Amino acid sequence: MIAPILFHLDEESLYEHIFERYVQLENGIGDLKQDLGIQNRSNNQIEINIEPTEVDSTGNGKKRAGKALRKKRKYKEKTVVTGTVIKNTFNLVIDQSITSLNSSKDNNNSTTGYVLWSITPFFIKWLLYSPSAEMFRSGMKDVHIKYSRDEEGQETEPNCITKMDIPYILNVKNKSGENKVNIIELGSGISGILPITLGNYVDKYIVTDQKGILSKLKENITGNISQLPLRSVKSSSLGMDDTPSSDSSDEDELTMIRRIKPQLCLEVEPIDWETFILNTTTEMRLYPYLQEIKKESTGTIYVLAMDVIYNDFLIKPFLESIKQLQNYYSTSQQTVVCLVGIHLRSQEVVTSFLEQAVIEEELNVFSIDTQEWEQSRFNLYMIR
Ligand SMILES: C[S@@+](CC[C@H](N)C(=O)[O-])C[C@H]1O[C@@H](n2cnc3c(N)ncnc32)[C@H](O)[C@@H]1O
Repeated sequence: MIAPILFHLDEESLYEHIFERYVQLENGIGDLKQDLGIQNRSNNQIEINIEPTEVDSTGNGKKRAGKALRKKRKYKEKTVVTGTVIKNTFNLVIDQSITSLNSSKDNNNSTTGYVLWSITPFFIKWLLYSPSAEMFRSGMKDVHIKYSRDEEGQETEPNCITKMDIPYILNVKNKSGENKVNIIELGSGISGILPITLGNYVDKYIVTDQKGILSKLKENITGNISQLPLRSVKSSSLGMDDTPSSDSSDEDELTMIRRIKPQLCLEVEPIDWETFILNTTTEMRLYPYLQEIKKESTGTIYVLAMDVIYNDFLIKPFLESIKQLQNYYSTSQQTVVCLVGIHLRSQEVVTSFLEQAVIEEELNVFSIDTQEWEQSRFNLYMIR
């Protein structure tokens, strides 16, 4: 297994980390796409293929020219899962809104969510297919954490963990008695490609963003539901329930197939970090799906956030939201792990994110360093 390096960031090493990363970017500049990071800003309807080939440094998938959109899409049944090597491929058609992206009125001016950003397909392909993501796919015990070096070149080990267990993010085997995996996605945007693809391998998935984004997000999830064939989907917010009824006397073949499939609870819930207050007073009224996850006694909660760090103003409310989620679930004995993917644009904004997370909020932040991420314009951080 090619394990990624987990590098613990403290108030000194974060600056070295940023400096080295931006020098690395400068050196690789010729090979990297220099754009804002929108997957496709020309078309309102785009096709995204998630397959184990050509995870390039911009996050772009292999283009298949001449294919009509909205063609009859078939999930590739011939694919199989061996251990945690995932060979399933996915083909999604996403409706985005370039007009709303450029609008000064829609969603209170917060319009970045109306299109898909390239880090998201990049992250999915890495997590599903890369050998270096195996640790997250299947979990790993006693992962060594790397610390910065002191002046004598010795690795410094502050008064905190040196080894850590990484819980699996994909419940691929779905054995009974195995820990459940719940995902909460923050700032999902309209695409729904994370819940559709990862939804095949987890038990609960709650997709969240600001209210104005959610109706298009729901349409995209519903429109691509054929790409979620490994689970039977139950969803109040989407009005879906393909779980078979308990009366099995005259079930047809399809019902029988569904019966042996594990269930995914997939819900869409509005969360705005700037107004987010999660406690016993608000949970039932405003965040019923987050509350539902709290009822589980064991398992893992992965909080995913892709390309949500781009504006200094949003960093504090975002980090406060992460802290609230950590506190809220701390009573339920579930492990909360956050993965935050950042598109490296302004060095000031990324530095400010790490300063606020590590120094002000005193969060445990780790940079996940692998060859693929290093050769891209993206960074991946784990907070726990
Ligand atoms: C650059 S987009 C990324 C969208 C998506 N994750 C992707 O990769 O395609 C940033 C996302 O953060 C969301 N966002 C911005 N401010 C927010 C807030 N205060 N609360 C919740 N979400 C917010 C936006 O609506 C948008 O969906």
